[in-house]
Amino acid sequence: MMRRRLIAGNWKMYKIQREALEFAGALGTLVAERADEVSLAAPGSPEVVICAPFTILSGLSMLAAMGVGIGAQTMHEAVEGAYTGEISARMLQDVDCTYVILGHSERRAYCNETDAAVARKSLAALAAGIAPIVCVGESLAEREAGRTHEVIANQMAPVLAGLSGYAATEGRPITDLVVAYEPIWAIGTGRSSTSADAQAVIGAIRRQMVDVLGVETAKQIRILYGGSVKPDNIAAYLAEEDIDGALVGGASLQAESFAELLTQSVYRGSIG
Ligand code: PGA
Repeated sequence: MMRRRLIAGNWKMYKIQREALEFAGALGTLVAERADEVSLAAPGSPEVVICAPFTILSGLSMLAAMGVGIGAQTMHEAVEGAYTGEISARMLQDVDCTYVILGHSERRAYCNETDAAVARKSLAALAAGIAPIVCVGESLAEREAGRTHEVIANQMAPVLAGLSGYAATEGRPITDLVVAYEPIWAIGTGRSSTSADAQAVIGAIRRQMVDVLGVETAKQIRILYGGSVKPDNIAAYLAEEDIDGALVGGASLQAESFAELLTQSVYRGSIG
């Protein structure tokens, strides 16, 4: 079984409704122009998701109509309640979100999001029918101290432990989890990880999944690389055995670079 590639754009705190519409129009035109190379539906084409600010989620139907999935960038773990300013999984579902980024390093750094909270949110998202994109990554100091694998394993552990006890009665199966390995020093810096280094970490994440969830489940879960992914480096990541796509910040903001990323992400081998 082949894991379908996933290219997820993370718009962070960029774009108002008009800009999102302009993006959607331009992306539609560019994809149509490249119909020989890329399509949003053909076998081999990546699944495409845009994770946008809350305020424009309900206005992205033009992207949805093109086959682009809609995602949010965080959510609260409770079903509902007195949590001023927060957004629940049910609210995201209501505006047709199918994905949510959880535990992005910017939220861990600025909003004190913990591994335990990310684990609880992941289960809440799955239960509500939304696929979590769980982000993990080490700082430069941790990398230089040789602690990368330990840091990532510690971030993954509560999420995997939660999933191992999760019985999907409704909502999504645990195989809909997506993990994004994003070294913090590579985010927004133009300094990307080598594809071999990214594969080493992502391979270790998959082995940890095998240990906790079993090989059949681990084989189906997609793991992305993120951190300064651009049209000219994405192919190298996708060529690695365990890398199933990318979480893309800067290069997802312009339709031109995003369309080029998608073109570079089409799987050209035979689909078995
Ligand atoms: P970048 O951001 O592609 O701009 O480095 C990636 C991310 O933060 O998800």
